[in-house]
Amino acid sequence: MTLSLKPASEYSISFLADLMTRGFEGYFVPIHITEAVMITMLRRDGIDLSSSRVLVKDEEPIGIGFIARRGWTSRLAAMGIVSNSRSGGAGTWAMQNLIEEAKARGEKEMVLEVIEQNTAGVKLYEKVGFQKIRRLVGYKLENPQADSAHDLEEIDIRDLARQVTYHGIKDLPWQLSGTTIMQHTPPSRAFRLNDAYCLISNPDATDISISSVLVKARSRGAGLSGVLLRSLFAKYPNKIWHVSPIYPEEMGFIFEQVGMMPETLSQWQMSLTL
Ligand SMILES: CC(C)(COP(=O)(O)OP(=O)(O)OC[C@H]1O[C@@H](n2cnc3c(N)ncnc32)[C@H](O)[C@@H]1OP(=O)(O)O)[C@@H](O)C(=O)NCCC(=O)NCCS
Repeated sequence: MTLSLKPASEYSISFLADLMTRGFEGYFVPIHITEAVMITMLRRDGIDLSSSRVLVKDEEPIGIGFIARRGWTSRLAAMGIVSNSRSGGAGTWAMQNLIEEAKARGEKEMVLEVIEQNTAGVKLYEKVGFQKIRRLVGYKLENPQADSAHDLEEIDIRDLARQVTYHGIKDLPWQLSGTTIMQHTPPSRAFRLNDAYCLISNPDATDISISSVLVKARSRGAGLSGVLLRSLFAKYPNKIWHVSPIYPEEMGFIFEQVGMMPETLSQWQMSLTL
């Protein structure tokens, strides 16, 4: 068996989308990557296809490793191996090579998030040297009752992204960082209530995702995030609200105070100093 890595930029988007779908077969949540989903992922997360790799066994593509890059830091944005090629050391071999390539590019840190319950994934990343930074949690709430509709001011997503970059914690997970928030576009919408800010996915849909919540440091501890979220629930009634498991555990109170229920899946935010 000969393993090799080929630049993902040598393949079509639809091929990569299909290979990623097959690499995540039997995953904790169903993953179906279409060409459109992949294009959004590439743009929003800053994935660099010329640094991303298709894992090839003999002549056959058996997996993908998507690499996103910003300055001195890269992120393993997705890693998946087709089910019949798993648990044979291919994942370890690919990770070791991806780390060497990041070092050769002059980077100083590689980051990733992995589902805590994904034994093989956590084992693999710890084996190649990644360390846990913190647990990331998610929440859900159906049809919350809310009557206190304060006036929410709609703002440009770019202004929210600037606030997150300036006031948010410095090592936020990639998807919550100001740089990623900056890539969100309508129909997503950003709102402000005094010193509290949030970003939500298309509010016309039945399911709405809360993609960012920020309270400026000077106004923290006064329950402003709860007022903001309850106002959102009142503005858009009869919705199912989702918070992906990408929020630092210490931010969980924001969602618990408005009655949101923890998701069963959580993630580890991990980092490797190169
Ligand atoms: C996670 C994944 C990339 C690992 O690749 P792989 O080729 O299976 O990994 P390896 O064979 O190199 O094994 C890595 C470690 O995980 C362990 N492992 C592999 N499969 C396992 C399983 N089913 N259960 C528990 N541990 C497992 C191995 O024992 C090895 O540790 P060890 O060397 O200490 O024994 C692969 O399983 C996969 O694609 N899974 C589906 C998608 C996914 O979970 N991606 C990661 C999301 S961040």
